[in-house]
Amino acid sequence: MARAVFLFFVLLLTPVLSQSAEVMPLDAKIYVAGHRGLVGSAILRKLKVDGYTNIVTRTSKELDLTDEKAVQVFFEQEKPEYVFLAAAKVGGIKANFDYPADFIVINLKIQTNVLTASHQNRVKKLLFLGSSCIYPRDCPQPIKESYLLTGPLEETNKPYALAKIAGIVACQSFNRQYKTKFIACMPTNLYGPNDNFDLNNSHVLPALIRKFVDAKNNRLPQVELWGTGSAMREFLHVDDMADACVFLMNRYEGNEIINIGCGQDISIRDVALTIKDITGYEGELVFNPKYPDGTPRKLLDISKIKALGWSPKISLEEGIEDTVHWYKENY
Ligand SMILES: NC(=O)c1ccc[n+]([C@@H]2O[C@H](COP(=O)([O-])OP(=O)(O)OC[C@H]3O[C@@H](n4cnc5c(N)ncnc54)[C@H](OP(=O)(O)O)[C@@H]3O)[C@@H](O)[C@H]2O)c1
Repeated sequence: MARAVFLFFVLLLTPVLSQSAEVMPLDAKIYVAGHRGLVGSAILRKLKVDGYTNIVTRTSKELDLTDEKAVQVFFEQEKPEYVFLAAAKVGGIKANFDYPADFIVINLKIQTNVLTASHQNRVKKLLFLGSSCIYPRDCPQPIKESYLLTGPLEETNKPYALAKIAGIVACQSFNRQYKTKFIACMPTNLYGPNDNFDLNNSHVLPALIRKFVDAKNNRLPQVELWGTGSAMREFLHVDDMADACVFLMNRYEGNEIINIGCGQDISIRDVALTIKDITGYEGELVFNPKYPDGTPRKLLDISKIKALGWSPKISLEEGIEDTVHWYKENY
């Protein structure tokens, strides 16, 4: 009996992969939340290039998504048909350590307000963004979607991870209870134009770009990096990420989370050498092994999104060149 009940719930929660989702018409009203951020700005660029003409945006000053009432009023007035939820409190290890309460509370509020208003205003489809860093700390590699919630989380970003996991389960729960179409993806480490290059709270790749460009400009004899450089990481250019987001919105329906990555990892040493090369920095690269490397390897299994028909297109070298160029132009 217990086995039958267990099987019933497994079947109930079993995701449906579908390639027959309804494609967004070019004049559909689309709300890109967080359109000035790394991911949101790339989604906006992609939608415009694809010919979408009815896109709604608000800065956080114009619409604070932690404000429940304001979010309700916005959705009632604008009635978006599709929502890309790329607004969130995001940051590197230091920011996560310094502001743990903000990371859990702000993200819970933003996603709860946007999911609830989307349901109440009959949004046709919503894309929620999880992250590869919310999988268990010691996952087997490459990381399959099924590994979520199978082990202890990384301690340094636990509040952020728990908020994001709550967002994924909230999407699945709205779908089950209200038959909404809220889909959730799990991007790997992203980089590109509009990234955060502030060394106090940036991710590793933009931090490396800033260090090498600044070292070249200031003729510094050496650049020191924390750790041994042996940790393996995966990086995806944000334009590929935006391409995948629009692809999923148009092609995927189901409760199951979907990984978005490039399917290949690289050591921090090699990515640093690539950036050194591209920036033309001729000084020395030094690793300081007194600092920890973090998880030895982090790579997503992207076979599911590949089976749906999507693959990344931008090589790491091309992507870094583009980002170095953007950094030099904008900082
Ligand atoms: N970056 C990565 O490597 C990475 C990897 C995996 C997953 N993700 C996910 O991708 C999503 C976007 O990340 P990102 O890197 O693009 O972040 P980001 O560059 O920091 O941008 C975040 C955006 O959220 C908006 N925002 C923050 N708080 C808000 C509030 N209270 N009300 C309204 N808007 C608010 C900001 O709007 P304003 O600019 O108007 O202030 C900003 O444009 C997040 O869910 C993140 O978890 C990112």
